[in-house]
Amino acid sequence: MIRKCLFPAAGYGTRFLPATKSMPKEMLPVVDKPLIQYGVEEAMEAGMNNIGIVTGRGKRALADHFDVSYELEHQISGTSKEGLLKDIRRILNECTFSYTRQREMKGLGHAILTGETLIGREPFGVVLADDLCVGTGSGVLAQMARIYEKYRCCVVAIEEVPHEEVHKYGVIAGSELEDGVFLVSKMVEKPDPEEAPSNLAIIGRYILTPDIFDVIRNTPPGRNGEIQITDALQTQATKNMVLAYRFKGQRFDCGSVEGFVAATNFFFERWKDAHA
Ligand code: G1P
Repeated sequence: MIRKCLFPAAGYGTRFLPATKSMPKEMLPVVDKPLIQYGVEEAMEAGMNNIGIVTGRGKRALADHFDVSYELEHQISGTSKEGLLKDIRRILNECTFSYTRQREMKGLGHAILTGETLIGREPFGVVLADDLCVGTGSGVLAQMARIYEKYRCCVVAIEEVPHEEVHKYGVIAGSELEDGVFLVSKMVEKPDPEEAPSNLAIIGRYILTPDIFDVIRNTPPGRNGEIQITDALQTQATKNMVLAYRFKGQRFDCGSVEGFVAATNFFFERWKDAHA
């Protein structure tokens, strides 16, 4: 059973300026919930109730969100508004939260390595909160946890993307072991379209084994001069098994305006149904 989930959340969110100038991008609300809360709920559904967040400067709102606000609780206690806090109260009752700061922005691999102190020596999930996922049947992390239980190795979530968009993602090549589960032979971070080994793109959900930390420590900077988790996993794939899992469901790239608006429309429909 995987208990821990890491949320790298130190990035600047420059694609969403000026909205993210003084507010963490992970706090952008989709309808009535900040992005990070969707991610934490997905982790909880997968049984990962021990939440580690890699934060940075200007990210205090994240820690405040996952804490009690006494003034607010007092103010709305006994009113009809109390129901609005039901989900976040459940999260606070059932999860623990730990934080560490990434002082320099040296890439996703470096962010994950910064989280080592929160994870220790056990397998863990990773959620990039700006990829908002809606699983079919169960959440994407829960689907991936089942793959991990079966194969006991690193698992990355993938989806097919149009060929002209592969340069935005980590891209894998592999052979299909069972429906939707690929044994990875190659991974490339943000390849030029002509170098891309496929159009199977990694999305922001990972299950990693703790040996990844040593691999990251020995991974030189790659694409954009950053330490890439994709490069570390490529090394891992040559030594051990790395699996890629084509998840069942839908993903919104909430780091882009188009994806964010699509997610908002999707969750607004759900909100309307719930409030009908
Ligand atoms: C990161 C990863 C990339 C992955 C993507 C998914 O890139 O480096 O491999 O495909 O997340 O969202 P970023 O979007 O942070 O540049």
